[in-house]
Amino acid sequence: MTGPVSMRAFVEWLAGTQGSIALVESLHMYPLIETTHVLTLMLFLGTLAIVDLRLLGALFTRVPVSEVTARVLPFTVAGFALMIITGLLLFYAIPVRTYESIWFRIKVILMVAAGINAWLFHRRVKRDRALWDGWERPPLGARLSAGTSLGLWAGVIVTGRMIAYNWFDCDRQPQPDFINWAAGCVVTMAELSQ
Ligand code: HEM
Repeated sequence: MTGPVSMRAFVEWLAGTQGSIALVESLHMYPLIETTHVLTLMLFLGTLAIVDLRLLGALFTRVPVSEVTARVLPFTVAGFALMIITGLLLFYAIPVRTYESIWFRIKVILMVAAGINAWLFHRRVKRDRALWDGWERPPLGARLSAGTSLGLWAGVIVTGRMIAYNWFDCDRQPQPDFINWAAGCVVTMAELSQ
């Protein structure tokens, strides 16, 4: 699977743009963006963890859920926006390698799953929150959403960290067929027969 031709052509085109070249060759900009990406974790996931731990009945159990979310979630949303902006800039700086990174691909899948989990929570679980808002231990549905959220975002952090390691990079051939398929590597016969 090399992925839709357009996606590969797009990241290759992106890598040739002046902005991408300037970012990847910059002495300070790339580390600055990446440091911001890491530091913003505290704002985004640090605050989201507070809400999830309340929903699990593990933290601030005497404070109504609605009060915890009302006070904390604005910081989570601001942190999420900063994570997305810095993440897109990191991708823009090294688009081809990142697009071919198995870790990045798993990270995107986990982020989408975390988004679906949050949507389902807001759409289904939160509907009757007035009933259990003050409960020290919210109902199973809320606890499942919170546990799933913590697990998925932990996976995003681990896979994000792994992007820097080149164990499965496409230029390290030969690799197992599954790795080349999952990473979308375009491999020549000469590379495979090394
Ligand atoms: C919104 C939630 C996100 C979280 C929690 C997150 C988390 C992380 C973490 C923990 C790292 C490792 C940083 C390090 O230790 O070096 C990382 C790296 C990275 N992230 Fe994200 N990220 C998010 C969104 C994004 C998005 C939306 C993109 C791009 C579309 C992205 C692209 C990257 C890239 C390319 C790296 C590798 C940087 C490097 O190693 O040089 N991230 N991310």
